Amino acid sequence: MAQTFSTLRGLILGLALILGAAIASPAMAQSGFNPTQRAVNEDQLMKALKPDGTISGRVTIPNQSAGTLIQPEGKEWRDYRRETLPRIGAIAILGMLVVLCLFYAIRGKVRVAAGMSGKTIVRFNGFERFTHWLTASSFVILGLSGLNVTFGRSLLLPLLGHQTFTPFSAFLKFLHNYIGFAFMVGIVLMFVMWVRENIPNGTDVTWVKEGGGILSKDKHPAAGKFNGGQKILFWAVIVGGVLLSLSGLHLLFPNRVDGGVIEIQFQSEIHGIVAMLMIAMILAHIYIGTLGMEGAFDAMGTGSVDLNWAKEHHSLWVDEVQKGGHGLPAAAKVAPAE
Ligand code: HEM
Repeated sequence: MAQTFSTLRGLILGLALILGAAIASPAMAQSGFNPTQRAVNEDQLMKALKPDGTISGRVTIPNQSAGTLIQPEGKEWRDYRRETLPRIGAIAILGMLVVLCLFYAIRGKVRVAAGMSGKTIVRFNGFERFTHWLTASSFVILGLSGLNVTFGRSLLLPLLGHQTFTPFSAFLKFLHNYIGFAFMVGIVLMFVMWVRENIPNGTDVTWVKEGGGILSKDKHPAAGKFNGGQKILFWAVIVGGVLLSLSGLHLLFPNRVDGGVIEIQFQSEIHGIVAMLMIAMILAHIYIGTLGMEGAFDAMGTGSVDLNWAKEHHSLWVDEVQKGGHGLPAAAKVAPAE
């Protein structure tokens, strides 16, 4: 008897399920529900709830922005993080690498046309080199750790797996947060130290018009301590460095930002885009200081460069130094190479 009841119960339950499904499906079709159109419905939902598209409630804690559940700018920011920024980064950085490879293949290394003289001239003192390497090394660490924020999930995670990628990224993020301050100090020192010598003048306009003589094998336009190209780089590094520092500070201390989450999203966009452009630009600077030009690295390596190199690339500066300018007597600045 008990078994008959249980069979009957099973049958009734089955029948109810079939009936329920039959009623539900036309109802669903009528409501226009289409599971593949989730994004459209999400959008409609947001618009329906508030004219500005936000979904928010009330909170009793001091942080009122915590009451906002959904804000449409968040979607735009997510698109920027997932698509726009990686695209800008890939185009700027890979594009620059391609240009540099082509340039090296076509032009080759820029040689000292008159050959090495065997005499050197002091170009940068110890403090100048310290400031350069402080800024440069912190920039490289910030660049690599920042690129991991943008590209790590898609490029490194599949290679390393979660167990390695997670602590690796946490460590890089920690480095990024702290090394940022060394970079800021470097930018301030660099500005104070070199601003006077980087004020543009007529010589730089001619230098730029002649493309720095980079395509010519033996003729280079006249230049002072810094040529037109180096002055452009200097100002780009100062402006870019200030933008990265200010936006980086906003990202580091989001609770102190007045404009709330929208302001933080804006600062994050500035930070990411400026970073990608600066990384591409600094790749060109690294190229010309190492592979691209004979004798250039010594300026920041030992601090002294070959006299012929200096005469070809910074003729006006050599004249000034030999007249006893730039703070030291000429004899102290020109020496036989070791
Ligand atoms: C100057 C001081 C700097 C500070 C305080 C700083 C701070 C930050 C912070 C807090 C983040 C957010 C990381 C996250 O989303 O978890 C970030 C991201 C990032 N930073 Fe910096 N940063 C600084 C300089 C730099 C420099 C010089 C570069 C480039 C060489 C750089 C490149 C990046 C990149 C590429 C990202 C990832 C952007 C993204 O994917 O949205 N940062 N930075």
